[in-house]
Amino acid sequence: MAAQLINGKEVSQQLLADLAQKVEQRKNQGLRAPCLAVVLVGADPASQVYVRNKKTACAKVGFESRAYELPENTPQEGLLALVDKLNADESVDGILVQLPLPPHINGQAVLERILPHKDVDGFHPYNVGRLVVKMPLMRPCTPKGVMTLLQHYGVNPEGKKAVVVGASNIVGRPQLLELLLARATVTICHSKTQNLAAEVAQADIVVAGVGIPNFVKGAWIKPGAVVIDVGINRMDDGSLCGDVEFAAAAERAAMITPVPGGVGPMTIATLMENTLRAAELHDAAGAEAV
Ligand code: GUN
Repeated sequence: MAAQLINGKEVSQQLLADLAQKVEQRKNQGLRAPCLAVVLVGADPASQVYVRNKKTACAKVGFESRAYELPENTPQEGLLALVDKLNADESVDGILVQLPLPPHINGQAVLERILPHKDVDGFHPYNVGRLVVKMPLMRPCTPKGVMTLLQHYGVNPEGKKAVVVGASNIVGRPQLLELLLARATVTICHSKTQNLAAEVAQADIVVAGVGIPNFVKGAWIKPGAVVIDVGINRMDDGSLCGDVEFAAAAERAAMITPVPGGVGPMTIATLMENTLRAAELHDAAGAEAV
C-alpha cells in the first residue's frame, strides 16, 4: 500500500478531548454542560447503534444527553409535538432526529420543525441556505468532519479539483458546498452521471458517499489523489466495508481513509462540536434577552 492512512479515530479523539476541556471551562464560568436530545423512531438496528454511539460520545465529553425512543407507529403529529416540546425546553441545546424515519412520516417536515439554532445536524433549509451563501450557522456533521480531517492532514482544497460521488442531502450536497467554500473546483456525480470513471480520474480529492460497497474502483483513482470514503456498509459476514475499493485505491492514492476508523468517528465528534456551538448560540440568545 502506497497511501498514507488518514486516521479519523485519532483525530476524533483529539477533538473530543478539546471539547471536554471546553466543557470544564464552561463549568468554571458557571455555565451548564451542553445538552443534546436524540430522537429515535422505531427499532432499526443500525440507527440504534448510531444513537448509542452518540450517547456514549456525549458522556465522554461531559455533555448531558436525553434519548427519546418512540415506537415505529408513532404518528407524525406525535413526533412534531415532541420536537415542539424540545424546541421550547430551555435546558436542551441541540436536537437530533435520527434518520431514516418510518415511511408514514414526512421526514422533511420534521427536520423543518427543529429550530435552526438547535439543528445540530444542519439539515434545516435555513442552515442549508446559510451554507450556500457562505455564512454557515450549523454545518452538517459528516461533510464538516471530512473538512476537519483534510485540514488536519494538511490538505488544502483551494484550487484543487474535487469530485463528490453521491448527491444525498446528508453527505453529497453539503460536501459539495463545503469544498466550494474551501475554494476547490467541485464536480458532483450521481446515478445519472455518464462516465463516472473519467470524472473520478480527474480528481485531486475524491469524496465517496453513495452507500454501495466498493462502488468507486481503485483503478479510477488518479495517482497521488486524496480519497475520503464516507460509506459504512455492513456486509453479510458482519464486517464493515466502504464505498471505495480500498486495497486497489490505496495503491494509487497519496492518502486514504479506512473503513472503519476514517470518517465515521469524525461524524460523531463533529456532532459534539455542533452541540457545543448550539449551547454557545443558546447562551448568546439568553444574554440578548436579558
Ligand atoms: N442517519 C444517518 N446519518 C445521519 C445523520 O448524520 N443524522 C441523522 N439525524 N440521521 C442520520
